[in-house]
Amino acid sequence: MLRREIASEKQSLILAVTGASGAIFARRTLQMLEGDARVGRIHLVVSGSGLKVLREELDLGISESAAIPSRLMGGPVCKTVYLLDSDVGASIASGSYPVNGMLVIPCSTGCLAQIAHGISSTLIERAADVCLKEQRKLILAVRDTPLSRVHLKNMLAAQEAGAGIFPIIPAFYHRPQTIGDLVTQFCCRVLAHLGLEQDEQFCWSSVAPKRQTVNSPAGRDETHRL
Ligand SMILES: Cc1cc2nc3c(=O)[nH]c(=O)nc-3n(C[C@H](O)[C@H](O)[C@H](O)COP(=O)(O)O)c2cc1C
Repeated sequence: MLRREIASEKQSLILAVTGASGAIFARRTLQMLEGDARVGRIHLVVSGSGLKVLREELDLGISESAAIPSRLMGGPVCKTVYLLDSDVGASIASGSYPVNGMLVIPCSTGCLAQIAHGISSTLIERAADVCLKEQRKLILAVRDTPLSRVHLKNMLAAQEAGAGIFPIIPAFYHRPQTIGDLVTQFCCRVLAHLGLEQDEQFCWSSVAPKRQTVNSPAGRDETHRL
């Protein structure tokens, strides 16, 4: 099944969510991947701390693993499979299992440190390690502030090992009006680096952009005016 998806050029991706602030970015990314016809399969992994942040920031009280993808999505999923972070024997822990790339969003500084130093004690860390050794795309949407010297060194080490570092630093030149605008444009920039350019992506030109409002169907908070 999966090899057929790869052969038909549908992307098979890993979406990892760790315990940094910014759960809304994970939600929007999942929504965009689910809605993207070029994506055949999404392997979703959420760390234990990631689940805690989902509870804090999105009010997701999740008791069953099976419910996590649809709760995070804010509706039904059709191509997302959920894998436990403790399952280091899952498919994506092996380089023999074909995936096109991996995105960690949000990425905690702890997870960054593990990946930068090749420590694979969880499925997320192992899958990232596999992406680096197999020279597959790995994007780390790191979030914290301020950044310590340790964080900065780890970002450099991970980037030198082949990862793309995408700190969650939204842009403002597209004149966002809502939190949803900010989040969507950041996610568009990230997905473009996986070869998944989005129609909603704002492209800078010297002509001033029109005021825009891109609201996600899920998450009323995203429509709060800035
Ligand atoms: C509500 C909440 C927000 C957090 N925000 C951040 C953050 O923005 N960046 C970060 O590096 N860690 C943050 N942490 C701490 C991490 O969750 C913690 O270091 C954890 O061990 C990371 O584990 P993980 O990488 O396995 O998810 C936060 C924790 C909580 C509970």
